[in-house]
Amino acid sequence: MLEIRDLVCGYGGVTALRGISLDVKPGQLVALIGANGAGKSTTLRAISGLVPPRSGSLFFDGKDMTGARPPRVLACGIAHCPEGRRVFPHMTVEENLVMGGYLRADTSEIAADRDRIYAEFPRLAERRRQAAGTLSGGEQQMLAIGRALMSRPRLIMFDEPSLGLAPNIVERTFAIIRRIRDAGTTVLLVEQNAFAALEMCDHAYLLEGGRIVLSGRGPELIENTHVRKAYLGG
Ligand SMILES: Nc1ncnc2c1ncn2[C@@H]1O[C@H](COP(=O)(O)OP(=O)(O)OP(=O)(O)O)[C@@H](O)[C@H]1O
Ligand SMILES: [Mg+2]
Repeated sequence: MLEIRDLVCGYGGVTALRGISLDVKPGQLVALIGANGAGKSTTLRAISGLVPPRSGSLFFDGKDMTGARPPRVLACGIAHCPEGRRVFPHMTVEENLVMGGYLRADTSEIAADRDRIYAEFPRLAERRRQAAGTLSGGEQQMLAIGRALMSRPRLIMFDEPSLGLAPNIVERTFAIIRRIRDAGTTVLLVEQNAFAALEMCDHAYLLEGGRIVLSGRGPELIENTHVRKAYLGG
């Protein structure tokens, strides 16, 4: 579904990705793990079209998307739930959700999808008229997920969805991500919580210094000595 080959990109004088190749197959939950600064967020930004490639290629559903701008990427069915959630703080919960579907023309179905998200996240329904900036961290995470789902993506990317959340909310967030995958949406998940990510994924990649140094099924990486030492606390 998503095929990245030898992708190089960066920011000014900084090279953040030094030729990465990865595949995400339909229906999979693929995890991308690595230390701070490894290039995880940059990978998601490159897929979204927020960071232009310097070389390499990116294909989605067989279509060449190398260098595509964010609106085209979204229109092709890729949604990005960014690091730090980034809800629009001065807009209401409802306005945030509707923004997620801004490229869609099927207005009646947009309302139906919004209502499905309210059914899934009753807290958002209760707070639909409230400014998003007044929500708790966990509620903002639910809103960011709901907003991403409003574009009816075929691939949804999560950047550190558990960051800064209380343990019980982290569990809920991971359960929601698993449900999204089980409902047939392909997921690319960036997580600092390497163990949780490796446990729930179908396939995983380890990024170090802008390079993919290891890939395999979750259990294989959990058993790997280097992964255990560097990412799973021995
Ligand atoms: N806007 C930017 N301008 C300049 N350099 C950047 C920018 N964003 C990221 N970088 C650099 O690119 C490299 C990769 O950063 P990236 O944010 O992709 O890492 P990450 O794996 O997501 O890290 P973290 O776990 O801390 O979120 C780092 O060296 C970082 O300093
Ligand atoms: Mg990051």
